[in-house]
This record gives sequence, C-alpha cells and structure tokens, in this order.
Amino acid sequence: MAATNPVDPACVPRHIAIIMDGNGRWAEERGLPRREGHRAGADSVRACVEACGDLGVEFLTLYAFSSENWKRPKTEVDALMRLLEAFLKDKTKEMQQQNVRLQAIGRLDLLPERCQKQLHRSIEQTAENTGLTLVLALSYGSREEIVDGVKSVVRAVREGHIDEAMITPDLFGKHLYTRYYPDPDLLIRTSGEMRISNFLLWQISYAEMYITRTLWPDFRQDDLKAAVADYARRNRRFGGL
Ligand code: FPP
Repeated sequence: MAATNPVDPACVPRHIAIIMDGNGRWAEERGLPRREGHRAGADSVRACVEACGDLGVEFLTLYAFSSENWKRPKTEVDALMRLLEAFLKDKTKEMQQQNVRLQAIGRLDLLPERCQKQLHRSIEQTAENTGLTLVLALSYGSREEIVDGVKSVVRAVREGHIDEAMITPDLFGKHLYTRYYPDPDLLIRTSGEMRISNFLLWQISYAEMYITRTLWPDFRQDDLKAAVADYARRNRRFGGL
C-alpha cells in the first residue's frame, strides 16, 4: 500500500492493538510450509514496531499466540515457540537501541520453560526504556482474562480490601492483565476476517476498527501508517454526540 501523508501527531493513537492474521495463507499461496509464513510475520512485527516508534505511538499490543492456538498441530506450536524465543533473543538488543519496553500478557506459565526464561530476560533488559511499550499477548484469551479478573475482585471483597459497592468498570479494569495500559484506540486485523477472536474483549469497547485484506507477512511500515492515517480521519464520539 502506498505511503500516506504524515499524520498530525495530535491524531496518532496512543495504543494500537493488532490481530496478526494470514501467516498460513501467505505461506500456502507460495507453496511454503506454514512456519515460513510465521517467520515472515516476525519481520512484519519488527517493521510495525519501527513504524510505531516513528509515529510516537505509546503502546502496541500484538496477538502473538492465543489460548486457542494450543489446539494447532504440535509441529506448528513448536515452530511458533521456537520462533518467539529466537525473535526475543535476536531483537532484544534492537529494542534497547529503539528505546522499546517489552511486556507480555496471558497465561505465560503455560509457555515452554525456555521461552518463559527468554521472555522474562527480555522484559527485564528493556524495563527501563521509555519509548514504545510493546505488549505481546501470549497464550492469551480474553474470556480467561475476564474470569481471572472476576476471581481477583471476589478475593479483594472476601479479604475486605473493597466492598461490593466499589465495583465499577474502572475498578474492574484494574484487575485485568492490561491494568498498566490504556485501552486500545485502534484495533487492526489483517487478512480480511471480520472477527475479534477472543482478543481484548473488555478493552476494545470504544476502539476504532481497521480491517485490511493484506495478509500479516505483507503488512509493513506503510500499511501501519495508512491505518493510522485512516484512524486520524475518524470522529470518535464514545457514545456521545
Ligand atoms: C495467525 O496466522 C498468526 C498466528 C497464529 C501467530 C502470530 C505469530 C507471528 C506473527 C510470528 C511471531 C510473532 C512474534 C511476536 C515473534 P494464521 O496462522 O492463523 O494464518 P491463516 O489464518 O492464514 O492460517
């Protein structure tokens, strides 16, 4: 997609969330194994991190592995986990140079030990960075997150930290994995599917949606900038007039 005019910095979303879809189809179209699609998808991750840095986006949340993705064949799950580990090992230095702070949400304890270790190492090494916060959603499912949030609120009530009357949407949000981040302003989904797929159900209540037919491995800097330019033209009313 062609590059667009620079976006007024005042209209840049603070938080972009992306459902990265279409890696498998991209590979199949080329007669390649699916893992090659994921590998090319990792290059798009790198490109989008760079574009977000250029634009001054503060938070980028990427749906890298859903709770449902565990149902895929073991060979594909293993390839994705190896790719994630290699990506983190490889790119942490680059994240340091770009002032990117890495974070992760999801049931991280379900990831293979080596992946968890590398993830925590990368998070630690980038913890002091003050630029873009890159949040990887890993073994993440929004319904599971909401159930965990409910349990956490129930516990707080039972232990006497809060009483029932204090439970508001704001308070509940503080019991979700995403409590440290603002809600996404812009939700992007690649590959043309019109679904949310159990991603940030609570947090995207008022996000603007941008769905493109471009497959994730083809989605690069200019595509992200085009999505942001489209967002900048929207009139957000949050239910008001
Ligand atoms: C969806 O494509 C993509 C995934 C399930 C995984 C996303 C992973 C990456 C982009 C690569 C690695 C990520 C990082 C952070 C290093 P699909 O396989 O469902 O595609 P399809 O719908 O065409 O089959």
